[in-house]
Amino acid sequence: KRHLISAADLTRDDALLILDTAEEMARVADRPIKKLPTLRGRTVVNLFFEDSTRTRISFEAAAKRLSADVINFSAKGSSVSKGESLKDTALTLEAMGADAVVIRHHSSGAPHRLATSDWINASVVNAGDGTHEHPTQALLDAFTMRRRLSGVGRGLEGRRVTVVGDILHSRVARSNVLLLTTLGARVTLVAPPTLLPIGVETWPCEVSYDLDAVLAKSDAVMMLRVQRERMNAAYFPTEREYARRYGLDGLRMAALPEHAIVMHPGPMNRGMEITAEVADSPRCTAVEQVANGVSTRMAVLYLLLGGSEPAIGTDRSDSA
Ligand code: CP
Repeated sequence: KRHLISAADLTRDDALLILDTAEEMARVADRPIKKLPTLRGRTVVNLFFEDSTRTRISFEAAAKRLSADVINFSAKGSSVSKGESLKDTALTLEAMGADAVVIRHHSSGAPHRLATSDWINASVVNAGDGTHEHPTQALLDAFTMRRRLSGVGRGLEGRRVTVVGDILHSRVARSNVLLLTTLGARVTLVAPPTLLPIGVETWPCEVSYDLDAVLAKSDAVMMLRVQRERMNAAYFPTEREYARRYGLDGLRMAALPEHAIVMHPGPMNRGMEITAEVADSPRCTAVEQVANGVSTRMAVLYLLLGGSEPAIGTDRSDSA
């Protein structure tokens, strides 16, 4: 079985195959009938232990456009609230014949645990695990950047991407750093020192504490939400202080090169990391990212379940 657990599992060729396949899938979305028969008879389970709007709906739309049967499982309202374990939940899904399990979990490592277990014989796709990774978000972000900045069929070599905000709690940041560097982009992280993870100096990117110093050198600026729900002891400045130093407003957007785009994975905290003026401007790709997410996830499901070699992801033995 093949899985997609980490952006680190993807070689440059793997990533480009997914992005090129996503371009094919995007053409399906432009047709009057947005459906392919490719995964007819296959079952995709959305197994969500944590809240989601975009990712869950996007995977559901992607699977349905490929004609798969979709089962949506939300931990809220399920027997998880009675104490049922991940193992017993997985055994239940296996008994129902799941071919792919798209899992979001509050614990970093849960998708890897599922993929390396003998509880289930399905492909596992990580839809966000704790503060660890969100590989399909990074893929849809790369897809969006490639379309806007480099052109279809090309990589992101030499493109400069600035990721701003709560890096410490961001699985989106980690997956983006891994994938974008694989694709040849140069990433700079900008955050207050207290919102950077220990060991960030070993990541394949640069770090800055000064947003204004990097804007003019950015092809894309990715603003991240401050994840207060994951904060325990982490020091956090006041909202006004944070917005003043790390928020993107109209004045800062004007300092970007003319071709540069503003990205946000959502959900946004308008007025905090991004002003409404910037969020609603044509330079902001947040809504485009959501649309691109469906094509990208169609590509991932297609390649895992129905596509041909070369494979994406890894075998059970070496998923990271
Ligand atoms: N970007 C993202 O993962 O959004 P959701 O939490 O709404 O799925």
